[in-house]
Amino acid sequence: MSDKTLTIVSDTDGTRLEMPVRSGTVGPDVVDIGALYKQLGVFTLDPGFVSTASCESAITYIDGDEGVLLYRGYPVDQLAERSSFLEVAYLLLNGELPTRGQLEHFTHIITTHTMINETLLRHFNGFHHNAHPMAMLSSVVGSMSAFYHDSTDIESARHREIFAHRIIAKIPTIAAAAYKHSVGQPFMYPRNDLDYCSNLLHMFFAVPCDQYRVDPVAAEALDLLFILHADHEQNASTSTVRLAGSSGTNPYAAISAGIATLWGPAHGGANEAVLNMLEKIGSVENIPKFIAKAKDKDDPFRLMGFGHRVYKNFDPRAKLIRTMCHKVLNRLGHTDSPMFELALRLEEIALEDEYFIERKLYPNVDFYSGIIYRALGIPTSMFTVMFAIARTVGWVAHWQEMIVDPKRRIGRPRQLYTGAGNRDYVPIERRGS
Ligand code: CMC
Repeated sequence: MSDKTLTIVSDTDGTRLEMPVRSGTVGPDVVDIGALYKQLGVFTLDPGFVSTASCESAITYIDGDEGVLLYRGYPVDQLAERSSFLEVAYLLLNGELPTRGQLEHFTHIITTHTMINETLLRHFNGFHHNAHPMAMLSSVVGSMSAFYHDSTDIESARHREIFAHRIIAKIPTIAAAAYKHSVGQPFMYPRNDLDYCSNLLHMFFAVPCDQYRVDPVAAEALDLLFILHADHEQNASTSTVRLAGSSGTNPYAAISAGIATLWGPAHGGANEAVLNMLEKIGSVENIPKFIAKAKDKDDPFRLMGFGHRVYKNFDPRAKLIRTMCHKVLNRLGHTDSPMFELALRLEEIALEDEYFIERKLYPNVDFYSGIIYRALGIPTSMFTVMFAIARTVGWVAHWQEMIVDPKRRIGRPRQLYTGAGNRDYVPIERRGS
């Protein structure tokens, strides 16, 4: 603990409060305001958590000014180049890179727990064919809390581990079932001889009446996207999982809450929104019109896939995804993709525009990921589902960290109340017409 402090003095009666200032490994110091209400009788107000650290965490570090993203200390670009999604999952969950034996064991567990209960599979019949896949994913993952009663004691380390393995192994199967339901095709059971991403592609695109060969380029692209989406510190969905989990709720229910949060267009839903936006823009000549709309304060339109609460220089994930996008389009023979050309031109024009420069708005992780998904044949409405599969690992790592924190308490924010003061009930006959 550092001996730095920050002192505030009450204007009302001159009471002084010295608050400890704590330093992390890297990043800005944090003022511990825990005693503020008790000592001075005031709360802090920080809508959107712009200056508030909600917890201590040792999982992921972001330096938004320098465009740095570290998972357990390792730069994401090194992991993207040299690691695999399941190795990154092990790292995020356990804090260290696995030995060869540990990785083999972890991979074996994940790839052999891919089936879901048949009853759970029947849940999909209750959805209309055009239900949004994120609605199906969130509901069916939430329904998992009605199963596995033998292993959801959150105070048991072994139960937490079983939960982690189950959800990471089964979420691709649930996602694929949502897809198959939406296109009216028979569900394809998982294949445990395939790696994580190849199995996902198999469950998506194979049909019982034909041979399906997984394209290794597609599996490689998916693996990279999953590494880049695996965790991102205390974002909205991760904070939701932590908050829901802090009440001691069933962990599958907490993950379901995270999926619901990710769905929003300001968060994971942006990858779907980017493709819809590019389709609307249609051609390069229309770009200036849409840039003008994005800058117009009376128009709700925003350039989707642009801007980030934390990254004010560039999003390191966007750079890697743009490079992968070139590679995938080349290797899959989509070199003349008009969508990619449009995205590149839009990025170029926006980055030269004073409005975007002044506000430090750069392409984020979602700007190019949808173009890769599109090239892989994944429909637009499934893009955020792909994000959710990858982010499940981060959610689980944060949920576990929160549960074992000796200072764990239920998350319970306060408020600045601006409603009516105490007043007496008015009988209906005296309320006017
Ligand atoms: N297009 C046009 N203007 C924008 C955009 C945009 N995409 N993003 C921010 N601005 C403007 C905003 O109007 C404001 O301008 P002013 O200062 O004149 O009022 C300024 O930039 C700051 O914006 P903010 O809304 O206060 O920033 P925020 O940190 O609250 O929001 C954001 C961050 C990501 C929600 C926002 O940039 C946005 O809506 N982007 C588009 C949606 C998107 O791509 N989301 C994915 C985020 S990355 C992946 C993930 O989180 O899952």
